[in-house]
Amino acid sequence: MNKGRFISLEGGEGVGKTTCVESVADRIRGWGLELVVTREPGGTSLGEGLRSLLLQTRDLAAEAELLMMFAARIQHVRDVILPALDRGCWVVSDRFTDSSYAYQGGGRGVSVATLRFMENLLPGSLRPDLTLLLDAPVEIGQARARARGAMDRFESEARVFQERVRSAYLERAAEFPERIVVIDASEAVACVRSRVVAALERGCARWI
Ligand code: TYD
Repeated sequence: MNKGRFISLEGGEGVGKTTCVESVADRIRGWGLELVVTREPGGTSLGEGLRSLLLQTRDLAAEAELLMMFAARIQHVRDVILPALDRGCWVVSDRFTDSSYAYQGGGRGVSVATLRFMENLLPGSLRPDLTLLLDAPVEIGQARARARGAMDRFESEARVFQERVRSAYLERAAEFPERIVVIDASEAVACVRSRVVAALERGCARWI
């Protein structure tokens, strides 16, 4: 049995990531592969509980936020992602560790050394095989997030925060060009979806 592959989708607020997860999942299923679709923070009952606290708690300390993100992630990797990959399933996650580098690192100012330390706690030292990063100017993402209605704690952050998140993502992409594919997400959703699927096909050609 072939080993499953682990794909993450990343991006700042309002880039259309969650709708693209569906297109990615449809394409992978279309290849006849078994797939688990999940998200972070979340994916387990602990993770979903922490997610509600993370999205709603006001004035959470940056380090508390970081530890909660990684507590959710460690449980998620151990209980959901690694078992699925071991069964030969593919896994698609709406966000993974790059989100922590972007939001807790870039956004909140947690050091890269601390993030690396946390990342090394992940069971199996798990890293994605392929990451699709949706990138759009902050004003476009913010307008889309606003149009969706009630905004959570991260969506409500100021523009400078969102700019730092975006820069940190682009720095990650420059550091890991083999793994992270940057996709322009500033066009209409249908266009972004087809770009994402094309990037997925190119990125997975070596495995299928
Ligand atoms: P998500 O539901 O993907 O938000 P959106 O629909 O806006 O893409 O994720 C919830 C929020 O959690 C998101 O605003 C980013 C934040 N987050 C972090 O700050 N660090 C992390 O490690 C993860 C996984 C998410």
